[in-house]
Amino acid sequence: MVGSIVLFGPPGAGKGTQASIIVDLTGKPQVSTGDMLRSAVSLGTELGIEAKAYMDAGKLVPDQVIIGLIDQRLREPDASDGVLFDGFPRTIPQAEALASITEVIAVISIEVPDDEIVSRIVGRRMDPETGEIYHISYKPAPPEIQSRLIQRKDDTEETVRNRLQAYHGQTKPLGDWYDDLGLLTIIDGTGTIQEVGESVKAAVRSL
Ligand code: AP5
Ligand code: MG
Repeated sequence: MVGSIVLFGPPGAGKGTQASIIVDLTGKPQVSTGDMLRSAVSLGTELGIEAKAYMDAGKLVPDQVIIGLIDQRLREPDASDGVLFDGFPRTIPQAEALASITEVIAVISIEVPDDEIVSRIVGRRMDPETGEIYHISYKPAPPEIQSRLIQRKDDTEETVRNRLQAYHGQTKPLGDWYDDLGLLTIIDGTGTIQEVGESVKAAVRSL
């Protein structure tokens, strides 16, 4: 299928966790603006230096910075039939800019209430070697890799509150915007990782 798919939802909804299912089903590469920004921060690039303060505070990075990043990424050969966006677009200006670069064929929104999000975020751990996402209670890592796991700098209870505020104020209205275009499929993100995965599979297969 030609065109891009957007994985949408609040911080900690399970976008990164479920992305591989869509990648496997569609062959589209995952494009996560959060991962791209974190890599720029760790490399200390100009972009990383600019983005870091926003990310650490749980605020959105300015639209122009993000749009420039995506415009460049979509010029790469693996993006020619569309990609799977994870964490982008997050504002209506980002979605408008995206519409002028590539066609969005579906938006899959994973919905999770705020009180569940906080425990998901503060318990998240990442494997820096494989990029795999774990959780201290919901998806424990194998004992042999426990010592190398890292915690994201913005995964604190205080920063999560700001991220949720940014989500409700700036990003959630975008769900309605895509719904008006007939592109939105809503998934209940409160089940287990496997249960949510089944709903994601069903949504992709029905495209
Ligand atoms: P980003 O990295 O995109 O963070 P986010 O949107 O806040 O989303 P997360 O990555 O926190 O959550 P997720 O939905 O991927 O959940 P995950 O699968 O890991 O962005 C970070 C920052 O970069 C932003 O704050 C902003 O500053 C900047 N930024 C990025 N994109 C931007 C843009 N477009 N515009 C402007 N600024 C931008 O799961 C979370 C945890 O829950 C894990 O531990 C997982 O194991 C667990 N879990 C997952 N599913 C379940 C389940 N069903 N049950 C129980 N536990 C579960
Ligand atoms: Mg993520």
